[in-house]
Amino acid sequence: MKDNKKLISAPYYSIGQLRLDKWNELKNESEELSLCKTGSAIESKHKEKIRLLLSDLKTVEQYYAIPGKTIIEKLKKCFDNGDHSVFAHHINNTTRQLINDVYSGNPYSQKDDDGEQLETEFVSSANQSTGKNYFEVLFLENLNSIDETTLQDRLRELHDHNDQFTYNVIVQHSFQDALIALFFNPNIQSVVIRYAPPYRSEHISPLIKPYIQNVLNIDHHDLPEAELGPKLGQLIKQFRPEIDIYYVTDTALGDLKDSTLATFRRIYYRKEDLQELHLAIIRGICERYHTPFFSAVKEYSQKPTGVFHAMPISRGNSVFKSKWIKDFGDFYGRNMFLAETSSTIGGLDSLLQPTGPLKKAQEMAAVAYGAQRTFFVTNGTSTANKIVLQALVEPGDLVMIDRDCHKSHHYGLVLSGAFPVYLDSYPIEKYSIYGAVPLEQITQKLQVLKNAGRLGNVKMLLLTNCTFDGMVYNVQRVMEAVLAIKPDMIFLWDEAWFAFAGFTYTYKQRTGMFSANKLHVKYQSEEYRKEYQTHIKGLKEGEESSLPDPDKVRVRVYATQSTHKTLSSFRQGSMIHIWDEDYRKKSENTFLEAYMTHTSTSPNYQMLASLDVGRRQTQFEGYEMVERSIELAMVLRAKVVVNPLLKKYFDVLTVKDFIPDKYRQSGLNEYYDTTKGWNRMEEAWEKDEFMLDPTKITLFIGRTGIDGDTFKNKYLMDKYNIQINKTSRNTVLFMTNIGTTRGSVAYLTKVLLQIAEDLDKQFESLNKREREIADAHIQSLTQDVPPLPDFSRFHSSFLAVPGVPGGNLRAAYFLAYNEENCEYISMIDCQKAIEQGKELVASSFVIPYPPGFPVLVPGQVVSEEIIRFMLVLDVSEIHGYRADLGLRIFKDSVLNRQKTATAMGAMGITKKKKLTEV
Ligand SMILES: Cc1ncc(COP(=O)(O)O)c(C=O)c1O
Repeated sequence: MKDNKKLISAPYYSIGQLRLDKWNELKNESEELSLCKTGSAIESKHKEKIRLLLSDLKTVEQYYAIPGKTIIEKLKKCFDNGDHSVFAHHINNTTRQLINDVYSGNPYSQKDDDGEQLETEFVSSANQSTGKNYFEVLFLENLNSIDETTLQDRLRELHDHNDQFTYNVIVQHSFQDALIALFFNPNIQSVVIRYAPPYRSEHISPLIKPYIQNVLNIDHHDLPEAELGPKLGQLIKQFRPEIDIYYVTDTALGDLKDSTLATFRRIYYRKEDLQELHLAIIRGICERYHTPFFSAVKEYSQKPTGVFHAMPISRGNSVFKSKWIKDFGDFYGRNMFLAETSSTIGGLDSLLQPTGPLKKAQEMAAVAYGAQRTFFVTNGTSTANKIVLQALVEPGDLVMIDRDCHKSHHYGLVLSGAFPVYLDSYPIEKYSIYGAVPLEQITQKLQVLKNAGRLGNVKMLLLTNCTFDGMVYNVQRVMEAVLAIKPDMIFLWDEAWFAFAGFTYTYKQRTGMFSANKLHVKYQSEEYRKEYQTHIKGLKEGEESSLPDPDKVRVRVYATQSTHKTLSSFRQGSMIHIWDEDYRKKSENTFLEAYMTHTSTSPNYQMLASLDVGRRQTQFEGYEMVERSIELAMVLRAKVVVNPLLKKYFDVLTVKDFIPDKYRQSGLNEYYDTTKGWNRMEEAWEKDEFMLDPTKITLFIGRTGIDGDTFKNKYLMDKYNIQINKTSRNTVLFMTNIGTTRGSVAYLTKVLLQIAEDLDKQFESLNKREREIADAHIQSLTQDVPPLPDFSRFHSSFLAVPGVPGGNLRAAYFLAYNEENCEYISMIDCQKAIEQGKELVASSFVIPYPPGFPVLVPGQVVSEEIIRFMLVLDVSEIHGYRADLGLRIFKDSVLNRQKTATAMGAMGITKKKKLTEV
């Protein structure tokens, strides 16, 4: 493992934090300067500090249009003029507006008559003064300052007051600077690359270096300048694909590569075509802004319509005329009811067979999420998962699946009749949390199936990414390793908690769609073919290839996402994203069939419209909002680590707590270090087998003596109205999302401090006996950790092939439909029976909630560890288990009968095979 000291660290988590902090410092310094006696020693100290701050801010502000480098230059002039009060006033205004997040400014405000005006009349992003949405356009060209101003002026003249959008221009002079601007500035929505820019930035200072690791990791300094424009276009497509890119070139049309033509939205040959360019920029934004289904619903709701079908609530008729439920209407407002309809015509569309706005909305979502196809789902990812399973696997197929996955997958397997091969996530016993499934286990199990002649039956690998607790797989590495053994494997990534991940580069690398796209390109390339051939030649006798065969490999990837969990959508709004090279050939019919099976014929239009609008949001502000939610998570993590009172009772679990050393190749232990500041995590996201999503913050509360469930309900919810949804025995999980505000993080910190103070007082007031009891609670929560059970095994009656993983879950599930086949046994009797060597077999799913995945599935042998685990479980709900009745198991006689049936079935298969051979 790498020495952790080598990790790059920085005093701020992000450039945004640094920028705000520098402005704040400047504000404080300028205020103090204005109060200083002229010529005093303290005055020169402040002046020195201000010069440094202005220089730092100039480095940063050149990547933003507003306040931007021009304002910094003007402020510098004002400072040099010596009127310190005026200087302090301007700084104060600028900082205030920046902090209030109204930095997306009016493009015209910087232009002043005498060139001396300093204040930008900031307005919010939804430009309050003009009512227009504001964005920034990045121009890449090595212009001198006069040409730069001329370009900005000429474009400004082209703005029409009727335009729905308005923008400002920032010019960058090198390839590297353009990339830095794109990482720093989320307001950039369009990029214009003109001719051949130089490669190197002249502005990379130690100040910004830690924040541009992604840029520094890219090295194209040896590319000819003429190729830098297209290369930058391709990189933007990877980092921020939502951005519209334009190219102005003098390369002859015939000499332009196909990849260049595919990368740019438009290519121009005359730099002077500014009018055309301006119109294209506005058009590009309009297209992304368009929400076909939401607009159709809005339009429909405005039409006068008579309702003569079932749906009295439609247009609010049954609500607003009511004497008794009018408050319902008043609460939700008229539009909600005007938009309630079941119409599939009149501008609307049918989810079951879309041809109009819903089709278009789903196509636009596919582009936004990097999929080949996207389907909207109106009953959450619980349904999305069942659709995908039913579409792709048949009775008897083998599905490799993490046992601690969401219950919808287990039910999907029952429905489809496929046999699960359960994979075990490594346990993090100290905190009663499961980690994720190591790749080694996946490949080993595949080898076992291969050796047993069952590889042909394996159809799918299904994993949860990320898990509820934030464990993130190295998706590409997993798929490559598996495809080397089984080149036609289908992957289903349950990304219920990961829809937001597609909108920032670090996370995106570990999503199903991005990785599928990358592998598709890779396996089609000549370079890969050569690499594979060299690899094959280098293999020793009997050694198997660790690379997929390019002639056999198929990229078939599905991802299900609860859009409603992490992005803007009404509850239950989910999506299925598909990147499947064989979709048309092999799966389209079955997919549509499964989609029909599970999709309501009365889908909720509000929910569908929210998916459409949510897509628009991700394409304009996804990058900014996701980055901000990560930043807020980091702030919360750091707060707990540095505050002595919080530290006394709480620990934020670190990357190291979650991920054993062997899976952290980068050596990253934690995001924040009290001595070194923020560790940069880019390398870890790229390399490590597992990552911890920083927006999932697990707080260890063992030292409070309060268990997770009580802490959640009695402390956070009842006392402080703080809602969370996951706990373990000794942890609670907080999540930040795109709706989290600085205020809510501050409130949570305040509440934790309050709880810690109350605990201090409470512990101080305890008598000796009470203290002993409290200590015993703490001891139990911090030391006595119950082991987390693995999946035991399927009983031999339900194994398709004796001794080979893969059980007939469906057979066991339906066998239990007959009550006569089952009996109940108390936990204590279970324990005794197991000790005496008896095999007990579960007849139902047993699902403790939280965390909500089964500890027992039908057909599974009940192990001692499982009973011990259940005996110490302290959750309020255990689905499928009633303590008064005991555990529901199969009777022995039934198991024997089933064993014979299974054996006969297996023989039948053999006989049939022989017949066909004959
Ligand atoms: C991993 C996972 N998959 C699927 C689901 C189901 O998602 P939904 O609530 O959208 O039905 C959940 C719900 O918590 C989940 O945690």
